[in-house]
Amino acid sequence: MSEMILVTGGAGYIGSHVCIALLDAGFDVVAVDNLSNSNKASLERVQSICGRSLIFRHADIRNEELIYDMLRACAVTAVIHLAGLKAVGDSNVRPMMYYENNVLGTMRLVSAMKRAHVKTLVFSSSATVYGMPRYLPLDEKHPLGPTNPYGRTKLVIEEMLKDLCRSDDGWRIGSLRYFNPVGAHESGLVGEDPLGVPSNLLPFVAQVAIGRRETLQIWGNDYDTPDGTGIRDFIHVVDLASGHLSALRQLGQPGLITVNLGTGNGSSVLDIVRTFESVSGRSIPYEIRERRAGDVAACYADPTFAKNALGWASTRSLEQMCADHWRWQLQNPNGYQGSELPKVRERSRHLRRHA
Ligand code: NAD
Ligand code: UD1
Repeated sequence: MSEMILVTGGAGYIGSHVCIALLDAGFDVVAVDNLSNSNKASLERVQSICGRSLIFRHADIRNEELIYDMLRACAVTAVIHLAGLKAVGDSNVRPMMYYENNVLGTMRLVSAMKRAHVKTLVFSSSATVYGMPRYLPLDEKHPLGPTNPYGRTKLVIEEMLKDLCRSDDGWRIGSLRYFNPVGAHESGLVGEDPLGVPSNLLPFVAQVAIGRRETLQIWGNDYDTPDGTGIRDFIHVVDLASGHLSALRQLGQPGLITVNLGTGNGSSVLDIVRTFESVSGRSIPYEIRERRAGDVAACYADPTFAKNALGWASTRSLEQMCADHWRWQLQNPNGYQGSELPKVRERSRHLRRHA
């Protein structure tokens, strides 16, 4: 019998890719999501891609009793916890919502897990916990100092999970600090579907390429970087998802392990514009604006520990990230909105080719 994994936030951008990785690896999956920032069409597509079904529960992780019942009823052995709010700007406006969703949500989840004797957890943290880089690349020992409420919720959760492990050596927890996840599943069926105006770079660039928006605003070209624009460590979401699988498999020892998930390569905003233009064949008009408050010049990972501790490294190039992001955008100009599952037969052929 295969193991059952609970994925919180499973209908979201990263969650849907994690569900694919789990199903493809032979795990069974129960996905829980309150759909506050997602559409359950993503999970229908996940099942179509994998040719296997998963269990979906439309629920909130703050509902401890429900989560407890689910853990028991589905005989869950481990949890991958991605549910949470993630918009930095919004977290400045509504900080308590972030603490309630992210911190209280994790407390309730962990409490349900403890009662159900499920003590293996992979948690979505973020490179945002490092704050202003004091040196590059960022390794896991870099001092922590998030600069916004969203980032602080991630840090509070990391500390809370550490205390939990100190109190009870039954826990096995992996805290994964993601850098900048981009791209989409190569089928073009599952990808990022931001509500409203995207604040992140890749979704904005993709919407300019498809003609939904006219011009990209580049926030500053006077940074101390080779071309003056900001540098980030973009990582393909499929690589990121496979990092969760590696973490799950490596959580043999008691305690908490904290790992960067990044490529180790920095790419500038202009690198992204040029690469996206080249893979899409579309032009991305842009204008240079003032720096965005809170942005740093450069931020990229030291991925050495991930390699040593998890045996994991990213494999996909910037071209592939942009090409896959573009395929998703092209096939789903309005995201999941009003979308059916078109051309099922063609899609299965495509997937077989990539198998
Ligand atoms: P997402 O918004 O697409 O996915 C999060 C999912 O959680 C959504 O489907 C949302 O509906 C669900 N959710 C939110 N609160 C919930 C609750 N209380 N109960 C049940 N479901 C709830 O975001 P994502 O990009 O897939 O991010 C997943 C996780 O990774 C988040 O915790 C985020 O903070 C973290 N992360 C994301 C990035 C990034 O750039 N995308 C970077 C670092 C860390
Ligand atoms: C932001 C968040 C970070 C979060 C991450 C993923 C901030 C300060 N940080 O990271 O906490 O984990 O998103 O959700 O918000 N850019 C443009 N024009 C745009 C959009 C972005 O020039 O329209 C530039 C930015 O100035 C930056 C780079 O592109 O240099 C990447 O920006 P973005 O995708 O928003 O990611 P981060 O700022 O790294």
